[in-house]
Amino acid sequence: MDATALFKFSSGLYVVSADDGERAGACLVNTGLQVTAEPLQVSVTVNKENFTCGAIERAGHFALAVLDESADMPFIGRFGFRSSADFDKFEGIQSAVASTGDPYPAEHVCSYVACDVVQTTDVGTHLTFVGRVVDAGNLSGEPPMTYAYYHGTLKGKTPAKASSYVEGLS
Ligand SMILES: Cc1cc2nc3c(=O)[nH]c(=O)nc-3n(C[C@H](O)[C@H](O)[C@H](O)COP(=O)(O)O)c2cc1C
Repeated sequence: MDATALFKFSSGLYVVSADDGERAGACLVNTGLQVTAEPLQVSVTVNKENFTCGAIERAGHFALAVLDESADMPFIGRFGFRSSADFDKFEGIQSAVASTGDPYPAEHVCSYVACDVVQTTDVGTHLTFVGRVVDAGNLSGEPPMTYAYYHGTLKGKTPAKASSYVEGLS
C-alpha cells in the first residue's frame, strides 16, 4: 500500500481553539470540514494527546479559524509545533473571542466559525468533534491556505500528531 496516495487529498489549514474557563488550548489542524448546511455543522479531528483536544471536550464548544496565505512559518509553528500546556499561543498576536467564549487568531486568518459540540466520535488516536455553527465571520480577503501550499510553497512538514502523518514521510 502506498499511503502517499492520501497526500493528494485536498484540505485547508485551520486553528482550532477552545477555552474551558481555566486555560485556552489552540492548535493547527488540516481536518476542518463542513458536514451539513441545514443545520450548519462542521467537524474537526484532533489528536487525543494535544492539549486542545481536552480543552474542547471540557468546554463543549470550539472556534475554527481558516488560515490565509499570509501565514508564515513562525505563525504556523506557534500553533502547530508548540503545546498550549506550557505556552500561551495568543500572547503577542492579534486575537478575538467568538460568542462561544473561544479565542481565535485575528491575523493571518481569512474567516472563522464557532460551534457548540453536538457529537464526539472516538476514532482511535484522535477524537472527531462535530459542531453546530453558532457564530461565523470573514476577516481578510487573502486566499485561504491549502495544505498543498503549505507543503509546496512554505516547504512545511507534517508532525506525528497530524491525522495525515505518514511515518518516514512528512
Ligand atoms: C501542518 C500541520 C497539520 C496538523 N494537523 C493536525 C490535525 O489535523 N489534528 C491534530 O490533532 N493535530 C494536527 N497537527 C499537530 C498539532 O497542531 C500540534 O500537535 C500542536 O502542537 C498541538 O498543540 P496543543 O498541545 O496546544 O493542542 C498539525 C500540525 C501541523 C504543523
